Amino acid sequence: KMNAFVKDLMSKMTVDEKIGQLNLVTPGGAVTGAVVSTDVDNKIRNGQVGGLFGINGPDQIRKAQDIAVKNSRLKIPIMFGLDVIHGHRTIFPIPLGLSCSWDMPLIEQGARIAATEAAADGLNWVYSPMVDIARDPRWGRIAEGSGEDTYLGSKIAAAMVRGYQGKDMAAKDAVMACVKHYALYGAAEAGRDYNTVDMSRIRMYQYYLPPYKAAIDAGVGSVMSSFNEVDGIPATGNKFLLTDVLRDQWGFKGLVVSDYTSVSEMINHGIGDLQQVSAQSLKAGLDMDMVSEGFLTTLKKSLQEGKVTQTEIDDACRRVLEAKYKMGLFDDPYNHCDEARAKTSILTDANRLAVRNAAEHSFVLLKNSNNVLPLKKSGTIALVGPLADNQRNMLGTWNIRGEYNEDITVLQGIKNVAGNDVNVLYAKGANISDDSMIVKNINDFAKEIDVDTRTPQQMIDEAVATANKADIVVACLGEAADFTGEAASMSDISLQQSQENLLAALVATGKPVVVVLFNGRPMTLNKEDKDAAAILDVWFPGTEAGNAIADVLFGNYNPSGKLTTTFPQNVGQIPLYYNHKNTGRPLNPGDGHKFKSDYLDVTNEPLYPFGYGLSYTNFNYSDPVLSKTTISGMEGLTVTVKVTNTGNYDGEEIVQLYLHDKVASITPPVKELKGFQKIFLKKGESKQVVFNINHSDLMFYNPDLKLIAEPGEFEVMTGPNSRDVKKVSFWLK
Ligand code: IFM
Repeated sequence: KMNAFVKDLMSKMTVDEKIGQLNLVTPGGAVTGAVVSTDVDNKIRNGQVGGLFGINGPDQIRKAQDIAVKNSRLKIPIMFGLDVIHGHRTIFPIPLGLSCSWDMPLIEQGARIAATEAAADGLNWVYSPMVDIARDPRWGRIAEGSGEDTYLGSKIAAAMVRGYQGKDMAAKDAVMACVKHYALYGAAEAGRDYNTVDMSRIRMYQYYLPPYKAAIDAGVGSVMSSFNEVDGIPATGNKFLLTDVLRDQWGFKGLVVSDYTSVSEMINHGIGDLQQVSAQSLKAGLDMDMVSEGFLTTLKKSLQEGKVTQTEIDDACRRVLEAKYKMGLFDDPYNHCDEARAKTSILTDANRLAVRNAAEHSFVLLKNSNNVLPLKKSGTIALVGPLADNQRNMLGTWNIRGEYNEDITVLQGIKNVAGNDVNVLYAKGANISDDSMIVKNINDFAKEIDVDTRTPQQMIDEAVATANKADIVVACLGEAADFTGEAASMSDISLQQSQENLLAALVATGKPVVVVLFNGRPMTLNKEDKDAAAILDVWFPGTEAGNAIADVLFGNYNPSGKLTTTFPQNVGQIPLYYNHKNTGRPLNPGDGHKFKSDYLDVTNEPLYPFGYGLSYTNFNYSDPVLSKTTISGMEGLTVTVKVTNTGNYDGEEIVQLYLHDKVASITPPVKELKGFQKIFLKKGESKQVVFNINHSDLMFYNPDLKLIAEPGEFEVMTGPNSRDVKKVSFWLK
């Protein structure tokens, strides 16, 4: 039915109208580049706009749609997109934080709630999930993804697509998802945003491409091409990526949209002028041009000059129209414009509760000496730090519709949760930073940071005096939301000096200091790890930040999050990731360092490894037990591990399974995640956790880019993180 409908419609369209459908514009609201679309209403009227992003609300969307369906010649509806990245109005933890829950139902539910709110706000299309594997915490956009691991990242990609799109993208509460940024955007050299990417095909296929593929297998409706180049060709004009892999190898039939001006940016990449790069992008497999207007202004000329074909324009136009068909826009162009629903389905109490729960599951307890946490619900707490009473920094990057004045600060959350027997004293203690950044003066962030004009020493003195009156100090430290996200790369990922000075002064009081860390990336925390009594990493928790933090600090929820990115000891170790190769000269325990693969000034170990995270209770792991020690052909086996809660609290634990192919024709990584299960254990309780290991878990890409498994010995490792594992092995005959 869709095919016939689209064919019939296209038979009535002029070339200009077809090219018009390939134009995606923003009238503002989501401007992340040098250009913003102009004269948008007229362009809609003239059939020169296929989609619009950056506006929301049934009233605004109805107005724009009115122009398209009442005043344009063919009355083709527009589709409306927005960056709904971690919630729409009720903001969830940043994706990197939420990934630390390793909880697929929770992540799917988060996307479902975001879709419900976005759809109620008039939208049909969200630019999420962002599934770029990232091994470099200097990159500001590491905050938007699910970390460094391919296996976990692929599961999360699929869960988010299911959540956004539901069973039917045309449903009242569903939106089309857009997996991004295809491809390899997270591998930008030196962690500098938009920078060059260059990697081997084997690494690409083995580690970086699977999460995009997982989204496609889950039925994602659209794909966004990335800013970076791959093999010397910008992704937006890269036929290998957009056609050979995406369409021919993976069978993707949906819509491919560029990133913001990534078509015209190919001029800066050095590929050609606007006409040339637009033609190249279309021919490579791009359907829709976001903001550049290269397609709009040059494709007809390229057609006349024989530089693109009518079929290439038709194919792109067909995919845009099919996307609109799947969104239900031809049945009802206003299908998400319901003012009454917008009033009742956005920022509901139920959504706030879901966000609070999700935030609690995303926190990672990095240190807890002498069980200083959970806090007692009595006595005096000194709550200090620039993020303790800071409404503007709870939501994190990309919260276009999030409203700062709707979120809960830590100070407020502690008051809500602690009860009457806790006395809370507050002092800010420091600004987030007193330094000027090279590219942006700190005052550019002032809106976000609420800069205090007292001298640093005055602020520290006040905080120390406050700490001296308390039994314990809770210091809310970390990054400003704007230190992370797009175009927010950092070469130094430690705490700002102002906060390090504050922490040192607090520690010098002799009171135990609990650090509540806000961050959009792994940070270098050697000093904090040495000096603080406890560190709770809360990322940017979203709308219910303070309530969720207080719940965890006081033990109403026992933290269970596990890191999805390695925390290095220093920036010089980057890239540092758990599934590295062994090298020919590995540094083994007990080795002298000379002529080994290591550094003179730092060990090879991370500060906190992938998969790491503590609980208020303790979990004991048995040795793993295999169902077989030899398998052959396509046979699988099981591995069972008994986990016992030996501590004093009930709690959840994320049990992890890693494999290591001991000998292979391509050098294998030292370990790779191949399974995980999240279990709940009451104190004293034990559970047998059983993992299936299938033939496909033993496979890797060979030099011909074929997935194969080779006979030989495999080590199976189970444990609470990628470092503290117990091993056993089996043979594939
Ligand atoms: O979706 C985003 C993308 O992640 C970065 N550039 C702009 C797009 C649209 O806002």
